[in-house]
Amino acid sequence: MTWTNCSRPGLSGVLRRLPKRICPHTRSQSTALHFYQNRQLELFASKEAHRLTLRQLVFFGRMMDEDRLIKSANYVRTELPVRIAHRIRDLQALPYIVVTQEGVAKVYELYWSAFEKFRRYPVVSTLAENHSFCEFLEQILDEHAPVIPSLSLGLSLSSPHLPPDSLDSFMRRMLVSRISRRVLAEHHLALTRSFEAKLSNSADEPHVGIIYTGLSMKRSIDKCVELLRSQPYDIEDESGEWVPNRGWPEVEIDGHLDAKFAYIREHLEYIIFELLKNAMRATELHHRNASILPSIRATVVAGENEVGLRISDQGGGLSSAQIQLPSDLFSFSHMRNATRMDPPRLGALRTASSIGVKATVAEQIGRWQSQEKDLDNPQGRKDPEREAGIAPHPRIGLGLPMSNIFTTYFGGSLELVSMDGWGTDVYLRLPKLGTNLEGIEL
Ligand code: COI
Repeated sequence: MTWTNCSRPGLSGVLRRLPKRICPHTRSQSTALHFYQNRQLELFASKEAHRLTLRQLVFFGRMMDEDRLIKSANYVRTELPVRIAHRIRDLQALPYIVVTQEGVAKVYELYWSAFEKFRRYPVVSTLAENHSFCEFLEQILDEHAPVIPSLSLGLSLSSPHLPPDSLDSFMRRMLVSRISRRVLAEHHLALTRSFEAKLSNSADEPHVGIIYTGLSMKRSIDKCVELLRSQPYDIEDESGEWVPNRGWPEVEIDGHLDAKFAYIREHLEYIIFELLKNAMRATELHHRNASILPSIRATVVAGENEVGLRISDQGGGLSSAQIQLPSDLFSFSHMRNATRMDPPRLGALRTASSIGVKATVAEQIGRWQSQEKDLDNPQGRKDPEREAGIAPHPRIGLGLPMSNIFTTYFGGSLELVSMDGWGTDVYLRLPKLGTNLEGIEL
């Protein structure tokens, strides 16, 4: 086997020991370029990220004019390569065995490519230039859709080689940083869209960029329940048996139904959607032989500084041969959560890594449908994915860890309490003052 001298800095140390076919950057680029690129990375990685609060994002975006929009574009243009550089540094520090796992090199390549594009992007000075910058952002956002399943696949496969704490803290840094970059990019896109369309805040759901300033917890719960109940798919139990779905259980909402706060709607709805999906699934399985399904209770609480949501189900609790503690469900390590190495899950991650996973509830439903279509009839073949170990409704195991990361990003908390044999209570708390800085690590 021949080994290449990879032209990308940092990873070359590990990739040069890889077979030539794995390393995409060979020979053609000179050593001088190699050193130059590495110096650029050091330069950006040595800068601190400028962390923001929700309140700052709202205040800056509220009185939008041309000058502020251009400032916002240039903030995104200069801030994203700094945040990406920190994470490229993290990837370069991974042990060799991890970098060789499927998915990890793909993410590294995406990050390098995005870093190079951002750092070379010229200053934005006019509205027309901002329009082109937005097209550029949209394209990068799309290109990065497979990042989470690819990383999750690569790190699951690396799990035997990394201590659980290192693995989880690496994943946390990667995922929080990714959320932060997408928030900045999406916020700028949304500000631009409103500005270009001369839209004022809609009275119904006022928002500034991607932040909804009067977000109703009840309304978001209703929306997620409706989306879920329109998808009564069959589910697989722990032993691999398929349980027909008789329609998801009802959700009763009580508490402070008028609670409103400022938050990123997509983040809130991602979390609620995943928590309700788990509660519905557990209830359906636990009561498969009963004539009626007990309903799920969602209690909304508007506290002085935070908005809370408790979701209580009677789905039997979380006791499982594969999980010791409820918080282990957030872990990416197979030592804390043995399901991480399940072949069907790895197969589903491979599929997701090739088609990408997006975070919004609407997109998620779209993804379900498209995966279902792909998996049910892949080019007219007969069920090969099922044979290859991918379920028709693949569970890729990212919903809870991602919900936890979305929750804690602006200082919230997510706690699972299991009453084994009866059900689970999930407590979601989100700060409502918007004064916490983004939880990214430098
Ligand atoms: C990501 O989605 O991983 C990103 O980093 C997106 C950002 C470059 C706009």
